[in-house]
Amino acid sequence: MGGIVLAMHQVKIFDTTLRDGEQSPGCSMNLSEKIVMARQLEKLGVDIIEAGFAIASPMDFKSIQAIASAAPNCTIASLARCNTKDIDAAWDAVKDAKKPRIHVFLATSDVHMQFKLRMTREQVLSTITEMVAYAKAKCDDIEFSAEDASRSDREFLAQAFSNAIAAGATTINVPDTVGYSTPQEMSELIAYLKEHVTGIDGADISVHCHNDLGMGVANSLACVKAGATQVECTVNGIGERAGNASLEEIVMAIRTRKDFYDAETNINTHEIYKSSRLLSNITGVPIAPTKPIVGANAFAHEAGIHQHGMITNAQTYEIMNPDEIGVPHRALVLGKHSGKHAIRERLESMGYEIPDEELEDIFVRFKKLADQKKTITSSDLEALTLHRSRIVRPEEGTASTCQLISHSITSGSDIPKISYVKLRKDNAVMEGVEYGAGPLDAAFKAVNKMLGVDARLEDFSVRAVTEGEDSIGEAVVKISSVATGEIYTGSGISTDIVEASLQAYISGINKMFEAE
Ligand code: KIV
Ligand code: ZN
Repeated sequence: MGGIVLAMHQVKIFDTTLRDGEQSPGCSMNLSEKIVMARQLEKLGVDIIEAGFAIASPMDFKSIQAIASAAPNCTIASLARCNTKDIDAAWDAVKDAKKPRIHVFLATSDVHMQFKLRMTREQVLSTITEMVAYAKAKCDDIEFSAEDASRSDREFLAQAFSNAIAAGATTINVPDTVGYSTPQEMSELIAYLKEHVTGIDGADISVHCHNDLGMGVANSLACVKAGATQVECTVNGIGERAGNASLEEIVMAIRTRKDFYDAETNINTHEIYKSSRLLSNITGVPIAPTKPIVGANAFAHEAGIHQHGMITNAQTYEIMNPDEIGVPHRALVLGKHSGKHAIRERLESMGYEIPDEELEDIFVRFKKLADQKKTITSSDLEALTLHRSRIVRPEEGTASTCQLISHSITSGSDIPKISYVKLRKDNAVMEGVEYGAGPLDAAFKAVNKMLGVDARLEDFSVRAVTEGEDSIGEAVVKISSVATGEIYTGSGISTDIVEASLQAYISGINKMFEAE
C-alpha cells in the first residue's frame, strides 16, 4: 500500500446483543450474565451498548443501570417508543451513565403505520418532532430509528429523519427491520438519504439490518460503503427470528477489506473470539462450526491440497490470521502437577485476566479435572473459565443458590431407572431419590421435589466441548416455569455427562429462583 493515502472513515459499532439479541427466544440472560457480557463488550471496544428497553420490565430497567456502571467507557443506550412514559423510563435508566443515550423509535412504513400504529403520516411526523424534542430536553445524545425504514416511502422517510434531526437527534438509524432489503437497495437508500435529509451532515447515519434472507451483514457493509457511520449488530448474530447482522463478520470484513471499504472501527479484534465464546456459553446457543470468523472450522484446513498450501505460505488459503481474532493456541497441554501460577500464565496468554478469588475456584476445579483426565489442554481450561464466569453469584442475584453435592444413578435396559441426588440450599443439605423414564428424568424429578419447584424441561443437549475420549461434556438445559411460562437456560460441564446435566438443570433452577 506504499504511498497511497486512503480516506478512512470511522464506523461506530453499536452493539445490541443485550437488547435486540437478548429479546430472541432462548437467548435471555439474567442480571449477572448481562454484567459479565457488558464488561466483555467494553473490552471488545464497542462504542455503544444498547443495554435494554427500560420500560419493558423492572428487570430490564435494573439491568441497564447495572450495565452502565459495569461498562463506563461505552455509551449506554436504552430503547424507548415515541411516548413520554417510555422516554422517562429510558432516561431514568441511563442518566447515571458517563455517556447516556436515549434511542427512540417509531415505524414509518405504510404497513406499520396503518395496521400497527393506526396513525396517519402527519401524526407520525408530528409525534417524531414532539418526542425527539422531549427526549432531547433530558439527554444530549439522541438516536432516532425509523422502524421498517427499508420498506418505507423514501420521500416520507427523508422527511421523518429531517424532523428528527431538527428536533435534536444526533444519530438517525435506518433499520431493515424484517430483513427484506438487498445490499444494492440499502446502498441506494443511504445515498438517497444523504442527499435528501435536511441536516444529515451533522448526524451519524446508522444501519440496523436483520438477517431473514441471510443478507444482514452484506446489507450493513453495503451501507458502510455508501457512507454509514454507525452499524448496529450483535455478537454471534443473535437476535429476533434469523438474528441481527453479526458484529464479528462486519468488523472483520471492514478490517480485512480496508482497501475496499476505506473504513475502520474501534474494535479490539483480539477480543472477538472470547466475546463469541462467552455469549454462547451464557445463552447455551452453540456456534455453528461453519460460522464465519468464530466457528470451530473457520480456520481448520482439512483438504490435503489446502494443508500443503498452508504449510508453504498461510496466505494461500487464509485471508485472516486466527491470532487477530484471539483464537487460542489449542495444542498446549497442562499436567496434573501444574501449579496455580502456570494456570494463571496460561489463562493470561489466552487473554483471560482472572481475579484472585476466581482463580482459586478455577484451580480447585482444574485439580479435580486433572484426576479425571490424562491431559488438560487449553480448551479444557477455557471451558472451566467460561463456565466459572457464568455461575450465578448470590451477591449479584436476589436469591440464594442451590448446589449439587453428589449423585448416583441406576440404569439399564431391563431395570428401573432410579436417581439419587444430594443438594445444598441455604446451608441445608437435602437428599432425594426418584424413578423416571430415564436416569436424567429421575434426577430432574428428584431436584424438583426437593426444591418444591414446578419446572418443565423444554430442551436438553450434551456435546463435547474439548478434544479426546475423556473430553469435557457441556450440558445445556432450557426449563420453563409452569407458573409463569418463562424459559431459563442452564449449563454445566463435567467429564461425567450425568453430573454435567444435573449441574445444568440446577443452574437453570437457580436462575428461576433469581427471577422470581
Ligand atoms: O429491528 C428494528 O427495527 C429495531 C428497532 C427498534 C431499531 O430493533
Ligand atoms: Zn431490530
